[in-house]
Amino acid sequence: MSGFKGRDVISILDFTRGDLEELFDLADEVRLKGVKGRPLEGRIMALAFFEPSTRTRLSFEAAMKRLGGETIGFTSEEATSVAKGESFVDTIRMLDSYSDIIVVRHRYDGAARLAAEVAENPVINAGDGKQHHPTQAMLDIYTIRVLEGGVDGLTIGVLGDLKYGRAASSFILALTHYKPKQVYLISPPQLRARREVLEEARNRGLNYREVENLEDVIHELDILYVTRIQKERIPDPEEYERVKGSYRVTLEMIERKAKKSLKILHPLPKVDEIDPRVDTTHYAAYYTQAKLGIPLRTALLLKILA
Ligand code: NCD
Repeated sequence: MSGFKGRDVISILDFTRGDLEELFDLADEVRLKGVKGRPLEGRIMALAFFEPSTRTRLSFEAAMKRLGGETIGFTSEEATSVAKGESFVDTIRMLDSYSDIIVVRHRYDGAARLAAEVAENPVINAGDGKQHHPTQAMLDIYTIRVLEGGVDGLTIGVLGDLKYGRAASSFILALTHYKPKQVYLISPPQLRARREVLEEARNRGLNYREVENLEDVIHELDILYVTRIQKERIPDPEEYERVKGSYRVTLEMIERKAKKSLKILHPLPKVDEIDPRVDTTHYAAYYTQAKLGIPLRTALLLKILA
């Protein structure tokens, strides 16, 4: 199946390159011309956030409101009857009967897929455990399209916690829809991308190489995608202590080695992996990226619901 109408959004691999490009065309229209009228008037989006979120939740909410729709939902498990022992599945059934679309984030891998099996209405995965974050990946690729005209032919580094980070995993999988010149997966050995992600990337023909140090490849990069260590997903506190602070993007390193045209992306929140002095340079594209979340998610809701 292709297109978006009435569909769930669980993994970035559920869509084709053609689907994504159509979505980005509409996001461009929304960004440059705005939204006409109130196309989603009378429609309700349920936000089921069992885990913390700032950008993803608020940009979905803002997008729905700009389209004339309304939102209901919760921002933590403690605020729901799950705290009284109600099952995840029952919670999703209720939300499905109260709304037209559910956006769900949960700490367990596979939670969004399960929600989609239970719900009649479309379900959007806003992050399930360490697995998928498809709308972030759409936003990441869209940002590269806005900044560079597209992904094909670029040299892209993905730095950080590639093992527990769902944003990084989804971004790597999203790159397999395109033809970048070279992809470097840069991480300490303990935080290498998971085998299933690497296998998928290999089978889909992505030209990637795993390396340990940013310093060895930074001079080649057009795009550097940085992620934080997912402290809350690392099962063993000692493992976290071993990798804490193991990579950091400094202004010195960039100025000494990187191309002048390097753009740095980050799904945010960032903690200490990027020197804050980078924030105000032309290298930093992460605030632009966060801002593009509104037109991208507006276009996505239009495609699914309008
Ligand atoms: C990411 C997430 O929740 O996976 N945040 C986001 O949606 N932009 C990244 C992270 O938490 O590190």
